[in-house]
Amino acid sequence: MEGYSDRHRHSVEACAAFLRDRFPFVPKIILQLGTGLGSLAEKIDPALLIPYAEIPHFPQSTVASHQGNLIVGHLNDRPVVVLQGRFHFYEGYSTKEVSFPIRVLSLLGAQTLVLTNAAGGLNPLFLPGSIMIIRDHLNFLGENPLRGPNVDSWGPRFPDLSHPYDQALIKIALDSAQHCGLKKVITGVYVCIPGPSLETAAETRWLRDCGADAVGMSSIPEVLVALHAGLRVLGLSVVSNVNDPDNLQPILLEEIIDTAALAAPQLERLIVEIIGRIEK
Ligand code: HPA
Repeated sequence: MEGYSDRHRHSVEACAAFLRDRFPFVPKIILQLGTGLGSLAEKIDPALLIPYAEIPHFPQSTVASHQGNLIVGHLNDRPVVVLQGRFHFYEGYSTKEVSFPIRVLSLLGAQTLVLTNAAGGLNPLFLPGSIMIIRDHLNFLGENPLRGPNVDSWGPRFPDLSHPYDQALIKIALDSAQHCGLKKVITGVYVCIPGPSLETAAETRWLRDCGADAVGMSSIPEVLVALHAGLRVLGLSVVSNVNDPDNLQPILLEEIIDTAALAAPQLERLIVEIIGRIEK
């Protein structure tokens, strides 16, 4: 175990050194873009774009709907680093690997993580295309990226999760949604399941009973590492489908991607507005 955690630490530090040499400035905000939501990257004036494949120790994305680029630039006058494409537990990665980019970018000076994902709606008030601001989460992955020896210089052994999603950022997101005229934006609880199979009707009912408003297969490992590293976190889910346990319909990946892509322009406007309200 010691060997594995030493290797992980070494990989993180080597990757951070590689990127530190290339970054033209310190990006304060990490923007991680999820399924069907990668197009925001085009709004960024790129100072640097590196394909994941060219970054030492970076995992490689195996999912066709995710591009794999790290982009440094400015969005609404804020220095950002965009992760265009993420890694998932269901691809076979450990949660340490999934969250590797966040750990590296935190060591390079990032202070805020803004992430997006596509999720299945469990709250019957949702419609396909609704945007949910994540207020809290349920980690049903059965794995935690912080397991194993703690690197004390990276963060505390037992990170507090009483307010995992930054209250001030949630307020900024709600105000920004109002400013953008987006009516369907509400806060909710996100549950992460391992996947890749989608939920049965019984699982859907149970997840709802557990208090979840939306279900997906991502993001929580990254959130846990970001919190451990002291970053402020904002999570936005696009509800790509709504799952009714009493009338469960087949959930098709194409529909998830299409609905997320339809909601993408709204989400992009929202994120640009939110970023502009984060202090420099
Ligand atoms: N379940 C799990 N993950 C998802 C879903 C879903 O219904 N929709 C988008 N990601």
